[in-house]
Amino acid sequence: MKNINIDEMLDKALEARKLAYTPYSNFKVGACILLSNGNYICGSNVENASYGLTSCAERNTLFQTYNLGYNKNDIKALLIVGDTEGPCSPCGACRQVISELTDNDMPIILANLKREYVILKINDLLPYSFTKDDLDV
Ligand code: THU
Repeated sequence: MKNINIDEMLDKALEARKLAYTPYSNFKVGACILLSNGNYICGSNVENASYGLTSCAERNTLFQTYNLGYNKNDIKALLIVGDTEGPCSPCGACRQVISELTDNDMPIILANLKREYVILKINDLLPYSFTKDDLDV
């Protein structure tokens, strides 16, 4: 893919993954967003004793990106990495958030610690999704 350095994104996400706060599951996930200005924004999952308040790596990273003043037009790619047998797949809640906050054509790179990866689009992960257009009745 043009100007998307997957190796570098994976390294950044693996670095961010080290900062995951996971005393309950011990399942650490890292995420890396590549911006069109070439910068990276990274994050990891943060758990809570009230388990349902846990926030996933990719959601934290997307929210951080928006809080820094960027939006979907600035996001070129998203990479997610976890210690899974195959590439780490995002949960349903994160798929919904990705579909709202990123472009439909944005590459989503799912990876694991063996540096295996697949490249998908949000429609592969969440077809027939509920979007803001559905609210415009
Ligand atoms: N988790 C993520 O951070 N991203 C995903 O896509 C899957 C799940 C986190 C949430 C929780 O801290 C741990 O992994 C186990 O579910």
